[in-house]
Amino acid sequence: MLGPLAIDSTSRPPSLVMESLYTSLFPSSSSTKLLQSPKMAELKASITADAKLEMWSYALGFTPMAIVKCAIDLQIADVIDSHGGSMTLPSLSAALGCSQPVLRRIMRYLVHRRIFTHTASSYSQTPLSRLLIRGAADSMAALVLLESTPTMLAPWQRLSLRARQADGSPFEDEHGRDLWGHCDANPEHSKLLDDGMSCIAAASSAAVVEQCPEVFDGISSLVDVGGGDGTALRILVKAFPWIRGINFDLPHVVGVAPPCDGVEPVAGDMFVAVPKADAAFLMSVLHDWNDEECIAILRKCKEAIKEKVMIVEAVIGEEEEEDRDKYSDVRLALDMVMLAHTSGKERTLKEWEYVVKGAGFSRFTVKHIKAIPAVIEAYP
Ligand SMILES: C[S@@+](CC[C@H](N)C(=O)[O-])C[C@H]1O[C@@H](n2cnc3c(N)ncnc32)[C@H](O)[C@@H]1O
Repeated sequence: MLGPLAIDSTSRPPSLVMESLYTSLFPSSSSTKLLQSPKMAELKASITADAKLEMWSYALGFTPMAIVKCAIDLQIADVIDSHGGSMTLPSLSAALGCSQPVLRRIMRYLVHRRIFTHTASSYSQTPLSRLLIRGAADSMAALVLLESTPTMLAPWQRLSLRARQADGSPFEDEHGRDLWGHCDANPEHSKLLDDGMSCIAAASSAAVVEQCPEVFDGISSLVDVGGGDGTALRILVKAFPWIRGINFDLPHVVGVAPPCDGVEPVAGDMFVAVPKADAAFLMSVLHDWNDEECIAILRKCKEAIKEKVMIVEAVIGEEEEEDRDKYSDVRLALDMVMLAHTSGKERTLKEWEYVVKGAGFSRFTVKHIKAIPAVIEAYP
């Protein structure tokens, strides 16, 4: 559920760097003499010019998303891959059935964004373009296709209206029901959502398996609440074959999820009851809901489990904290996504404490991992 945001996690924007340089050089702007000096005027003009240049990236922020979606639709990365990883413009345009002059312009932009390289008259794959190959392991194509649908983009136009209300959801205002109801009524969009979520689930589950396998010690049955198409459980039962998995989700999701050895599909509503297991696992679920709804879901999980509830979700920094690891831009962007598409939010540690304790858990721990989410373990 990402939106048309140009995320640059690599550095501070140049105009911000210039601005802090400006304020550190001239801490008191009351010095009129300094302010009127030609050097100062030059510096101010240069800061303004940089700011204007930076603002272009917001004005045209949809471009990277649209062109990457276009590359996926055309299957550019798939075709280059099937031709040994490198192709000339004439052979690529012939294989794709594209106009050469138009494809050349699209490829020039994609090369500029480092999505492909262009050397010796051939376009070649990069680590970024390989993520656009549909169906490949690690592919993120489905996530781009989901977020770039008119269905997911339209609610963003209502964000300023949402800001004037205490609660609500632009998605619901736009489509007349929440995301899950919309998916129930629109199987095509539901499939796009499941596939898109599966990209995130595969990466996050692999990170949990690699970086904190000990959280599964002593667990012989695990219910994945809101488990989607079962991607997470497929990875977990493969890594920890002693675990019996239960993939629990709404009927329209479980009904089409691919079968998996060691995983039992169960359809239901997590606000009503959760299947019994040693532990419950919730990944990218609670951020879809407001605090009261989260407390209700967690209470149902608490009733169902013997040991603990594992929550795999982002923990964002408190406002006064400098929250700048390489994932923090995505975490904060995801918070905006939740504002546009759900009634939920990404949570700080204090906000997690509020919902976990509110649901009656006596204590909880947080394991930070090198990934967008952290692992929160809540104990009855
Ligand atoms: C953002 S997706 C996350 C899916 C999966 N956990 C993952 O990480 O890919 C949220 C999931 O919650 C499910 N869900 C929504 N409302 C539900 C409910 N009342 N009961 C059970 N599942 C629900 C949705 O169908 C969806 O699969």
